[in-house]
Amino acid sequence: MRTQVAIIGGGPSGLLLSQLLNRAGIGTVVLERRSREYVLGRVRAGILEAGTVDLLEQADVGARMHAEGHPHRGCYLTDDQQMIHVDFTESCGEGVMVYGQTEVTRDLYDAQDRIGATHLHQVDNVALHDLTGDAPHVTFDQGGKGHRLDCDMIVGCDGFHGVSRLAIPEDVRRDYERVYPFGWLGILSETPPLRDELIYANHPRGFALASMRNPMLSRYYIQVPLTDRIEDWSDDAFWDEFRRRMPDDVAADLVTGPSIEKSIAPLRSFVSEPMRWGHLFLCGDAAHIVPPTGAKGLNLALADVRLLSAALIAHYRDGDDSGLDEYSAQALERVWRAVRFSWSVTTMIHRFPDHDAFDRRMQQVELQALATSDTARRLFAECYTGVGL
Ligand code: APR
Ligand code: PHB
Repeated sequence: MRTQVAIIGGGPSGLLLSQLLNRAGIGTVVLERRSREYVLGRVRAGILEAGTVDLLEQADVGARMHAEGHPHRGCYLTDDQQMIHVDFTESCGEGVMVYGQTEVTRDLYDAQDRIGATHLHQVDNVALHDLTGDAPHVTFDQGGKGHRLDCDMIVGCDGFHGVSRLAIPEDVRRDYERVYPFGWLGILSETPPLRDELIYANHPRGFALASMRNPMLSRYYIQVPLTDRIEDWSDDAFWDEFRRRMPDDVAADLVTGPSIEKSIAPLRSFVSEPMRWGHLFLCGDAAHIVPPTGAKGLNLALADVRLLSAALIAHYRDGDDSGLDEYSAQALERVWRAVRFSWSVTTMIHRFPDHDAFDRRMQQVELQALATSDTARRLFAECYTGVGL
């Protein structure tokens, strides 16, 4: 088997890359370890930056997003009982779109089906070969048989637990990591959202987030110790704890119902440099992870894809390799800015087990800056909507 670009991983990064390259006449094969149903069953964040919305339109996957997504022009943060509003549109002229990652993934699969792109699912033992030589190729098993895929380039879109990043030699690769001492317990419920915009709450009992997917589907989270297990949290226990962490007048409006999904996710900041090694390029979670606090994970992944797809198109169309040569450095600039934003919002809004009175004062000063300073609100809004990254 031969293709121009072999793509490892069929999450949002791999699917969008395949979509943009195919539309430019470049051949791709996507190798995905799981089934399509499994990939579509994962519940992830649901906030799209303005630039992500534009990119999905360019890829011809914007129609349902515009019909069913919900534009938001701001969000709330709380400091115990105080509600602080940041109006993104007033502060920086942009907004965000509330549209679940699961829906983005579904739209990408549908678009890929329409153009007849090649996806191989349930592949095992993917291995990358000759990354700095003349014959880059991927080997893998499918249906009990071994296969070889020859190609010009390999793109690792295989997420944090994938194999691509590990193919970069250890003496070349540098990893940076911060693991946070808590997780997020999240539930999805078919109830009306608490407010028309998201609420990020800093409460003495810990962080809570009120988010949503649509007028009858809410997504709520609370900070929990890493030692907590999902079995420990009944729906009632979740609602009681969530209610306590919202300002009293907001909590009074909470409509509860059975959860239709419930999970605990750890929080981590992680960056691996470089994002290119010979014929291998990394995109998305394969190279970096951010805590979900700023909803940057999907947006950052798709920003990598924007950069790399343009560089690959220039390579194949015009023989221009400058974009490929600059890809790693350019992508990492945005990555580090988003890592800083996600880390700083995480630090401002959670209660850390090792924080003391001094740390708490720092949080209060930062939150009050958002309440009182146009400049602080603008900086937050530019990062949240992505225009300033
Ligand atoms: N071989 C083939 N496929 C693999 C392998 C492997 N060895 N390892 C992982 N994969 C697949 C996973 O099954 C998954 O479908 O790669 C895909 C990676 O997808 P994501 O983890 O969703 O990463 P990405 O596409 O970069 O999307 C980033 O999505 O996962 C969220 O939080 C993340 O919001 C961020 C965004
Ligand atoms: C979500 O809706 O799942 C969500 C929204 C915003 C975040 C994180 C998660 O910052």
